[in-house]
Amino acid sequence: MAHKILILNGPNLNMLGEREPDIYGGDSLESIGVACQHKAQTLGMAVELRQSNDEGELVTWIQSSVGVFSGIILNGGAYSHTSIAILDALRAVGLPTIEVHLSNIYRRESFRSHSYISQASLGVICGLGAQGYLLALDALARIVDEE
Ligand code: DQA
Repeated sequence: MAHKILILNGPNLNMLGEREPDIYGGDSLESIGVACQHKAQTLGMAVELRQSNDEGELVTWIQSSVGVFSGIILNGGAYSHTSIAILDALRAVGLPTIEVHLSNIYRRESFRSHSYISQASLGVICGLGAQGYLLALDALARIVDEE
């Protein structure tokens, strides 16, 4: 069975393409999803992309990922900087997780420089725009293969 990767996106990422394009780029989340599908195919994997503005829904999706998905790519949006609940959910399931941010969170307001999600992530990719999701898929393909 092909490995399946869950690509989770937090609040306001449904507005990608329209939202502060100078910071987040012009790609919509839908087009990022399509690029991820294509990339996953070349890696012999499958992906499912979801987005929620609701912290609890993200926690529930993480909890129910066990046994279905082999790894998680997570752009938690602003919840990255605030959510101990998402950190705890990631720790509870223990799936290999790569954190992604479109923008370079270290070049912005200081409150963005800390991410709770990083503490449960194998790696963090930020500042490379939509390409970050594709790089995360590359990394996870290798990681889940080695497991
Ligand atoms: C973001 C960075 C966060 O600080 C911000 O709240 C977002 C998007 C990014 O992808 O660059 O919503 O996660």
